[in-house]
Amino acid sequence: MNSTSLRVGLLLRLGGALVLLLALDAVASYFTALHFANLVYDRWLIDSTHSLAQAVRTTNGQVVFDLPAVGLEVFQFDEVDKTYYRIQSASRGLIAGEVALPVAAASPIGAIRLANGTVHGQAVRLVWIRIAPVGSRDIVTVTVAETLIKRATLTREILLVMVAPQIALLGIALLLAWLGVSRGLKPLTDLAREIEARDHHYLAPVSEAGLPREAHVLATRINELIARLGTAIGAQKRFVADAAHQLRTPLAAVLLHAERAERAADPHSERLALRALHGSVERAARLIQQLLTLARTEPEAAVAVQFGRVDLTMLARRVGEEWIARALEHELDFGLVVPQEPVWVRGDERLLSELLSNLIDNAFRYGRSRGRVTLMVEAAAAPRLAVEDDGPGIPAAERHKIFERFYRLPDAGGDGCGLGLSIVREIASLHDAQVEVTSGENGAGARFCVTFARTAAEAYPGTVQRTTASAPS
Ligand SMILES: Nc1ncnc2c1ncn2[C@@H]1O[C@H](COP(=O)(O)OP(=O)(O)OP(=O)(O)O)[C@@H](O)[C@H]1O
Ligand SMILES: [Mg+2]
Repeated sequence: MNSTSLRVGLLLRLGGALVLLLALDAVASYFTALHFANLVYDRWLIDSTHSLAQAVRTTNGQVVFDLPAVGLEVFQFDEVDKTYYRIQSASRGLIAGEVALPVAAASPIGAIRLANGTVHGQAVRLVWIRIAPVGSRDIVTVTVAETLIKRATLTREILLVMVAPQIALLGIALLLAWLGVSRGLKPLTDLAREIEARDHHYLAPVSEAGLPREAHVLATRINELIARLGTAIGAQKRFVADAAHQLRTPLAAVLLHAERAERAADPHSERLALRALHGSVERAARLIQQLLTLARTEPEAAVAVQFGRVDLTMLARRVGEEWIARALEHELDFGLVVPQEPVWVRGDERLLSELLSNLIDNAFRYGRSRGRVTLMVEAAAAPRLAVEDDGPGIPAAERHKIFERFYRLPDAGGDGCGLGLSIVREIASLHDAQVEVTSGENGAGARFCVTFARTAAEAYPGTVQRTTASAPS
């Protein structure tokens, strides 16, 4: 099996969603950590800025930066980061500090400002304040800057503390999902295992107990399928057994008559044996022919059926003509009642001919000797094809049985094999048509009527009119 497992598929989707959530959470955590790292170190930087600003004094009306060397050392002492300052007078320019520090943008006097910038190509955090020293008209900007190494380290540490438990949680969530999915899918996997372990010939229904709704539908459908398969296989077996049995009878007769002909003492008894042999061969041929026709109408073979537009009027004329010779031979009153116009249905002409031939054959065979047989086509919303005779008819109690394979009425004479009406029923069902058997005119005889559910106009909307115009009349 190369298809992906349902469980793995579910887990992959679930895991993907969880990992995405974790990634989003990590981004949010990063910004939170950065915010707190900045909050801590900015405060220190602001304090330093205030301290340096306090060292700006006015001496003799001139602004000076007066910070003892020790104070400057304390300010600049840092093992990790580099710290810079710049004291900038509005009138005199740089008073003290690092020339590479950017000149701060204008801001209100006394207000602390923060920004990011670069010094000597390194990213730094900048803090500045503008002050107006007492006794001077000058404005002085005190700027302090610090590289970002400590902040980055703190951010990383906070991030690690926040994300590590979440990764562990993800692992636990995936484990729980695996267990949950496995448990949830258990009825399905059990069902799959049961079906897989089955022998091909074992056709008992699969167990439906304890299955969830979705799997229950599946199991019910499988069981319906198994039941249908069982019925079909049973019917097939019965049919093959019946067919073998039916074939054996005429073939045994063939053998018997052939032996008799061989051993015949005089030409007369030889001719009699040969005639009997001929009859047996005909019966066997008829049986084989009927079996083959029936096989062609099986649903499995029905894909090969060629559906097209069939004119029932033409069909009745053509098939009827084929039977005229036999009707004359048996002195039957064989009539054809068809409308003038074509009656189109959707069907397979070859199979419909077969259906009609079987009905006519029965009427000729089982009807009254020198009786009347009528072939009819009726044009209506549901077109009809009917064959009626004035023979003994079929008792009401037998009417549903005669369509079964190999069934013949107890008093049926002749050499029929009991397949004709099964063939009729199969062909009708391929055409969505209904076969009905009733008494003939005045309650005597038999009337077989095939009613088509749809006309060709319904099967081929919009095309029939054109075809009718060019159809043979
Ligand atoms: N028109 C009819 N009148 C009286 N009985 C009929 C008529 N048609 C069919 N039957 C009865 O129904 C039985 C089944 O008919 P069906 O055509 O299936 O088989 P068959 O004629 O015996 O054999 P096959 O047609 O296969 O050679 C017949 O044996 C006959 O007893
Ligand atoms: Mg028949």
